[in-house]
Amino acid sequence: MLTVLVANTKGGCGKTTTATHLAAAFAGAGLKTALADCDRQRSSLGWIAARPAEAPAIAGVDWVKGPGKSPQVDRLVIDAPAAMRMGGIEELILEADVVVVPMLPSVFDETSTTRLLTKVQAVKPIRKGKKALGLIANRLRPRSKAGVRLERFADEQTHELVGRIPDRAVYADVARDGLSVFDLRGTRGEALRSDWLPIVRFCENQA
Ligand SMILES: Nc1ncnc2c1ncn2[C@@H]1O[C@H](COP(=O)(O)OP(=O)(O)OP(=O)(O)O)[C@@H](O)[C@H]1O
Ligand SMILES: [Mg+2]
Repeated sequence: MLTVLVANTKGGCGKTTTATHLAAAFAGAGLKTALADCDRQRSSLGWIAARPAEAPAIAGVDWVKGPGKSPQVDRLVIDAPAAMRMGGIEELILEADVVVVPMLPSVFDETSTTRLLTKVQAVKPIRKGKKALGLIANRLRPRSKAGVRLERFADEQTHELVGRIPDRAVYADVARDGLSVFDLRGTRGEALRSDWLPIVRFCENQA
């Protein structure tokens, strides 16, 4: 089993969007997949409840009160809440094989991501390089100064920027229907999925 933790203490940076997309990517590839929701908002569990029966199945796991028994699956994706104490983050990191940290191109996200990375770096398996951590730039706009600044920010970090997801209205639309761009047919879906593939590969490289 490969466990992917999606975390950032910044709210609204795309944790649930990333967690649901990674889960849909794994499930779509024929892997038995579960999505553990640690957030009181239960957005990931709501997304699973809205997911159509014909879409590749993803099992929902309620970890709102903390990590429970791991389900017997090939891939487990953990959607972490924004409001988390260090002990909580550490507990989830120990459950995971790989950590992905989405962030927006904004100075506020840079500040909170720096704070998070400093804390996370103190967790032994991350510090020792035993567990990989990758940054994701989310909601990028073409040719924006904020996007350039985020690239520069990422260059200064110990951890690599492993994915770039553009700002697209489709993400709000698919979320509402329990879907992801991995569930869309045709060339439009294919183009949107290509943005996620480096992130999927980064996770799979740790399997
Ligand atoms: N790449 C994107 N393009 C456009 N909209 C996006 C994108 N990523 C996320 N969103 C939208 O931004 C909002 C916040 O995203 P999401 O819920 O994934 O963040 P979150 O980090 O899980 O938030 P929270 O901290 O509240 O759990 C949602 O409405 C989502 O549809
Ligand atoms: Mg969320």
